[in-house]
Parts: sequence; C-alpha cells; structure tokens
Amino acid sequence: MIGETLRLKVAAACAISPSLRHLRLVAADGGKLPPAAAGAHLQLVLKGATRTHRNAYSLISRPGARDAYEIIVRRVPASRGGSAFIHEQIKVGDVLEAGWPGNLFAPVRTARRHLMIAGGIGITPFLSYLADFAFGGADYALHLCCREDEQHVFDPWLAGKSGVSVHWDTDGRRLDIPALLAAQPVGTHLYVCGPAAMNDEVLELAAAAGWPASHVHCEHFGSALSGGEAFHAFLAKSGVEVSVGEDESLLEAIERIGVKAPCLCRGGACGVCVTPLLEGEAEHRDHYLSAAEREAGRLILPCVSRARSGRLVLDL
Ligand code: FES
Repeated sequence: MIGETLRLKVAAACAISPSLRHLRLVAADGGKLPPAAAGAHLQLVLKGATRTHRNAYSLISRPGARDAYEIIVRRVPASRGGSAFIHEQIKVGDVLEAGWPGNLFAPVRTARRHLMIAGGIGITPFLSYLADFAFGGADYALHLCCREDEQHVFDPWLAGKSGVSVHWDTDGRRLDIPALLAAQPVGTHLYVCGPAAMNDEVLELAAAAGWPASHVHCEHFGSALSGGEAFHAFLAKSGVEVSVGEDESLLEAIERIGVKAPCLCRGGACGVCVTPLLEGEAEHRDHYLSAAEREAGRLILPCVSRARSGRLVLDL
C-alpha cells in the first residue's frame, strides 16, 4: 500500500439482486486500510483483456473502518465494460488496484438537519451517512426512490435505522418532492444522488422553492460517463495525436497512450482534470464548469466531456 495506489483483495462478492453485486475488499498485504469519511468513493482500476477501466464507487462501509471497504455495483445495461467486468470477471481472492479514497460528497457538519433523496443505487453514499449520523445523533431523513421489486434490496444496510422511507412509482407510494421540501425546517441541508433526470428535477424544485444553493448538494453518476462518437484529439504540449474510441473517455484515451493527466473523481464533478482547449468544440458533460465557461469554449474536462467537432486540440 505505497504511494498513490492501494492493492485490495476481494474478500467477498455476492449478488444482492440480478443487477447489483456487493464486494468486500481488504488490504492485500493484510494490513489496515486508509480511513474514509462518510460520502467517500473508491476508484477501482479494472484491468480487462483489451483495456483498463477506472470506475469510482461510493464506499458503503462504516466511516473510518480500516478492516475493509465495501461497495455495491450496478450492472449498467449498456456497460462500457467496468460494471460488466465486476459482475462477470471478479472473484473472491482477486487483487485489484485502487486509488486512495476521495470525497466530494461529505455531509455538512453544521447542518441542523440532513434530508437525503436517493434514486436506486444512488443510495450508496447515504449508507455511509447513516452510520455516521447514527453515531453522532444527527437529525436526518432518507427517502429512497426505487423500482418496486427492489424495495427490499438494501434492507441489510437499513435494518434498525429510523428516518428511512422507500418510494416507488405507484399511486400512494410516489415521493411528493415539493411537499417534502416545503416541510423542512430552516437550516436543513438537502443531498440528492440518483440518475441525472431525478437529480435535475430535485435541484430545480429546490431552487424554485427558494433553497439556498449552499444547502443543496448533488452527486451525479452514470450518464455522464457513457461514451459517444469516436473523435481525435491533439495534445499540443506532448505533441501527440490520440484517437478516442466510442466507448472510452478522452481521459482514458490520454492515459492509454501514456500521457499523464491530473484527475480525481473521473465523473465531471471535482474540476481537477480541467484542461485548456485550444481548438475545436467540446460537448460538455461535466457538472463543474459554469455556463459562461462553457459558452467561452476554452476549457474541457476530459474525464467526461467529448468533442462536438471531429478534432480537439488540448493544451496538455
Ligand atoms: S477528474 Fe474530477 S472533474 Fe474530471
């Protein structure tokens, strides 16, 4: 466990539904793992036969735990390979590489109350929040919106926890988000994690209801990471041209040819990978750049964004 990389052994792997797999990972050398706080994620390096995937997953293990990290991975129907790899290839005893845990979605310590809205697998960061809140005695509520046939999938992690409600798309079970937002006391912080459409709806409703932006927090997953049309990029400082395939990100293509590029979340949220764009038009898929920065067209986040024109020139 040296430098920037952790070596993790798969201690347990089991299906908790047809599309969800739970993994328990321990230090390959038998030692202790770096502690991670509530809301942290782990970036796994998944080495397939033809390419390497780097996917980030929320840690659901107890915050501060040093004996094991736990994650739940949904098999994405149109998987680019990372989730399919975890579901089909990984077995107990395998050793995986991972980055150190990062955290872009920690609960706000000064909040008077925490209101969490999760869509399906978007519950995973909140499973670590619950452990944290139970320990600290925080005031909270968690609303999980999921498919009816998945309403009990997360029961092992929710058993005995108060303040948890499960909703699905049936009369009488739908979550009334405007009513929920209107009922919160001043000082509440709102956290949302789910598919992009759900996140956007909750964020819009919160803004319309007058929630201050500083009290609204969102973690995106999934859609921003999917591929698109193949294109070319020229890395001006390195003097090399790279072709970006349909099912890989610009960042992955850059790494594939051995050029080092900064990154952290790999999901368009942290801004660490922001790179000057010298030529070409970007299709921005991040959640970091402002509307004005997108409009100016001088920056790109290679972890998620792609080319709208056939070729980009990056100052990298
Ligand atoms: S690595 Fe975080 S936004 Fe690209």
